[in-house]
Amino acid sequence: MKVLVMDSAERAAMRAGGLIADTLSAAPDAVLGLATGATMEPVYGDLIARHRAGAISFARATSFNLDEYVGLPPDHPQSYRQTMQRLLFDHVDFDPSRCHLPRGDATDPHGEAQRYDAAIAAAGGIDIQLLGIGRNGHIGFNEPTSSLGARTRIKTLTGGTRKANARFFDTEQAVPRYAITMGIANILEARHCVLLATGEAKADAVARMIEGPLGADCPASALQLHPRASVIVDRKAASRLRMIDYYLEIHPGGEEPIIG
Ligand code: F6R
Repeated sequence: MKVLVMDSAERAAMRAGGLIADTLSAAPDAVLGLATGATMEPVYGDLIARHRAGAISFARATSFNLDEYVGLPPDHPQSYRQTMQRLLFDHVDFDPSRCHLPRGDATDPHGEAQRYDAAIAAAGGIDIQLLGIGRNGHIGFNEPTSSLGARTRIKTLTGGTRKANARFFDTEQAVPRYAITMGIANILEARHCVLLATGEAKADAVARMIEGPLGADCPASALQLHPRASVIVDRKAASRLRMIDYYLEIHPGGEEPIIG
């Protein structure tokens, strides 16, 4: 796992945007795995700025988002589809037919999960998967005790996750109970995983993910098994890492290693 510690949340978001931009420059038809959540908003702002500057194009790219709330139709303002439209898709040159999210309003959610996995496979798998992390260590909506071998399926959100996401809804009761989410197995199959975490509230989860034991108690710790995982953190999210001096030494300024 590469641990890239950046001096500010803004620089951390730009570093994540830079990795996506590098992927698109090397392979304009790349398959991008995207995430939602407040942490991702500046990343999408950064990608829009790069697009407007003429540095990157999404015209030949494909995207798959990690998750969607069960029960919300794509035009619901709080659906992750609408969130992605607002934050990214409406501002860049993506082909709308190649921007995929699970359908939250599918009449057969389990069938929808299988269809989604098949669509990812048909696209050739994910080249770069962007991830945030929940305070309890979830990635996607793989809450603690999720199977580390699971694929896209329906998960029940924890009370804590619903509370954390209530800020996007009128009331906590309005937050859906279930989500359809890619599983840890899908995430581990992505060719490159980029997890971004900023702020003090994520420091404990970040330490458990990077330096704690591998286990379903902290689903993000499964990234310890990934051969190419880049974790980008700001100083606050890095504040509980025991080996911080080591990470700063091998990735000064959050850059690639000096040796090798
Ligand atoms: C949502 C997702 C979640 C979020 C996580 C952090 O698509 O994948 O795992 O990344 O809940 O959310 P924020 O950034 O709002 O703290």
